[in-house]
Amino acid sequence: MIEALLFGKALAVVFIAMSGTLFLVTRVTLISRSFFPCVKETAHIYWVYSNMRLIRFIDRQLIISAILLFQYDRLVDRVVDEIRYSFIHGKTVLLTSCAFGDVIPKIVRASVEGGAERIFITDIIKNELIHARSKLGDFQGKFELVEADATCMKLDDAAVDINLVFFLLHELPDQAKEHAMREAARVVSPGGKLIIVEFHQPRTWFMRLLGRLYFTVFEPFALAMWNHHDPVRTIEAMGGWTLNRATFFWGNFQIVVATKQLIGLK
Ligand SMILES: C[S@@+](CC[C@H](N)C(=O)[O-])C[C@H]1O[C@@H](n2cnc3c(N)ncnc32)[C@H](O)[C@@H]1O
Repeated sequence: MIEALLFGKALAVVFIAMSGTLFLVTRVTLISRSFFPCVKETAHIYWVYSNMRLIRFIDRQLIISAILLFQYDRLVDRVVDEIRYSFIHGKTVLLTSCAFGDVIPKIVRASVEGGAERIFITDIIKNELIHARSKLGDFQGKFELVEADATCMKLDDAAVDINLVFFLLHELPDQAKEHAMREAARVVSPGGKLIIVEFHQPRTWFMRLLGRLYFTVFEPFALAMWNHHDPVRTIEAMGGWTLNRATFFWGNFQIVVATKQLIGLK
């Protein structure tokens, strides 16, 4: 009994310490970065995504799963299935920005096994790309790393057949969200797919309350995903796409698969 109590206490201390650290790292970064105009285009990015030691420290499957309420594997598996069921032989797959956990190796594996001709992995932060490469030991030479800003991609129109945007939009200030969405759509070829994995407004008031608290503290740009930056509404407004949205875990998460209509079928 005493051991159980001590264990519970230790768990609570670890949880509070981790939350406190995350809070400090995220909010202090946002505030302090706003004083450095020379790094403006990356001002919204937390140090956990740019400092190599922090990237390695945070990028652990358990931490990443916990941040996504243990839905990470489920979401990643759905995206992998989507790629496996798409015809990608000889086609081009793009990952717009890196993400923690094993999503990158899983997507690259599915793409290589599906016969994709080119796989681009992009991010605005070079350390993220170096870190991504370290997870792709089996696939060296089968992908290309590109340092690129999602709001202003270096790719031509219709250059890719699948574009995966995995938990990027909620990190961006609102105007950058708009630009990133436009760019994500622009680079997809007719018949190709834009896959967006993101937070979504939960169905129950209790989850909405918790979500609102969490985002206000840790992810100030994320709440917009619930309403005025709903990716489905944004893509619908662009026109020319067939949309499918699945939500998960009482509506907390969404996977949007948007297929660009072939020219002439609009
Ligand atoms: C996709 S999110 C990952 C967050 C998520 N919680 C996870 O599970 O890993 C963060 C990534 O987006 C990148 N990023 C942020 N702003 C960007 C931008 N404008 N263009 C490209 N990548 C960007 C960051 O450098 C980082 O690698």
